[in-house]
Amino acid sequence: MATRHFLTLMDLSSEELKQIIERAIELKTLRSQGITTDLFRGKVLGMIFEKSSTRTRVSFEAGMAQMGGSALFLSPRDTQLGRGEPIEDSARVISRMVDMVMIRTFGHKTLELFAAHSRVPVINALSDSYHPCQLLADIQTFVEHRGSPSGKVVAWVGDGNNMCHSYINAARLCDFELRIACPQGYEPDAEIVAAAGDRVKVVHNPVEAVRTADWVSTDVWASMGQETEQQVRTKAFDNFQVNHELMSYAKSNAVFMHCLPAHRGEEVSAELLEDESISVVWDEAENRLHAQKALMEFLQEYSA
Ligand code: CP
Ligand code: NVA
Repeated sequence: MATRHFLTLMDLSSEELKQIIERAIELKTLRSQGITTDLFRGKVLGMIFEKSSTRTRVSFEAGMAQMGGSALFLSPRDTQLGRGEPIEDSARVISRMVDMVMIRTFGHKTLELFAAHSRVPVINALSDSYHPCQLLADIQTFVEHRGSPSGKVVAWVGDGNNMCHSYINAARLCDFELRIACPQGYEPDAEIVAAAGDRVKVVHNPVEAVRTADWVSTDVWASMGQETEQQVRTKAFDNFQVNHELMSYAKSNAVFMHCLPAHRGEEVSAELLEDESISVVWDEAENRLHAQKALMEFLQEYSA
C-alpha cells in the first residue's frame, strides 16, 4: 500500500476524517476505562521540532507511549538538520530508522520535501501555512459538545494564519459555513479561500462573522516567527478581541475554541477563556492526544 502523509486536512476524504474523529472519541473512552492498545509496540515516532511546543510534543509523545511505542525528540539544535544537512538526505536517513515522523517547521515546502523523500508517513505538526492536527482536536471537541459540524456556522476571528487555513479546509471536509473576520491586510491566502467556494466568506467586522455562529475560534495575533511584528499587529487587531460582548452575537449555545497558548487580554478576554459554559479550550487541548492517536493508527494502516 502506498504510504500516506498528513500534511494538510485535504490529505483525507470527508469519510476518513469522520472515521478518525469517531476513533478518537473511542480511544478517549477506552483510556478513561484504563484500557490501552499496543498497536505501536516496538514502533518509533520521530518528532522534528523547529519551533516551540507544549501540547503537540506532549500529546504525540504521550500518545505513542500509551500505544506501546516510543517517540524521539529531534531539535535542529542537536541534529545535522540545524547544520544544513539537506532535508532530502535527512528524510531518507531518518525514515529508514523510524516508523513515522512528525514535523513542526516554518515553510510548508520543507514538509512537502521531507514527505517526498520519506519511506514512512509524515505528519504536519504545524507549518507557517497549516495546523491540521489541531483541527482534528477542534472537530472532535465540537462533535463531543454539539454533534456533527455539518451545516453549522463557524466564525474565525483574527489572523488569516495557519490555523485559519486549516479551518478553511475543515469547512470543505465537514461542510460547514465559515465566516472569517480579520483586519485589512491580514486575510488568509486567496487561493485557499477560493478553493473552498461559497462555504467561506472573508469579512472585516467581527460581529458580522460571529452573528448566529455555533462555534467561534481565534488564535494569537502574532504567530511563532512573527515576534518582531507583535507591536504593529497589536494595533491592527485592536477591535478583534473575542469576549463575552462579541459572543453575545453568536447562538446562545455557541462554543468558544482557541488552539492555545492564549494571550489573555489580547485575542481573548481572560473572562471568556475561563468561562467553561462557553469555552471548551481544555477539552480541545486534551483532544490533541486522542485525535493524534487515531491519526497515527490510520496512517499506520497504510504503511508497508
Ligand atoms: N496548539 C498547539 O499546537 O500548541 P503547542 O504550540 O503548545 O504545541
Ligand atoms: N498560529 C500559531 C499557532 C500556535 C499553536 C502559531 O503558528 O504560532
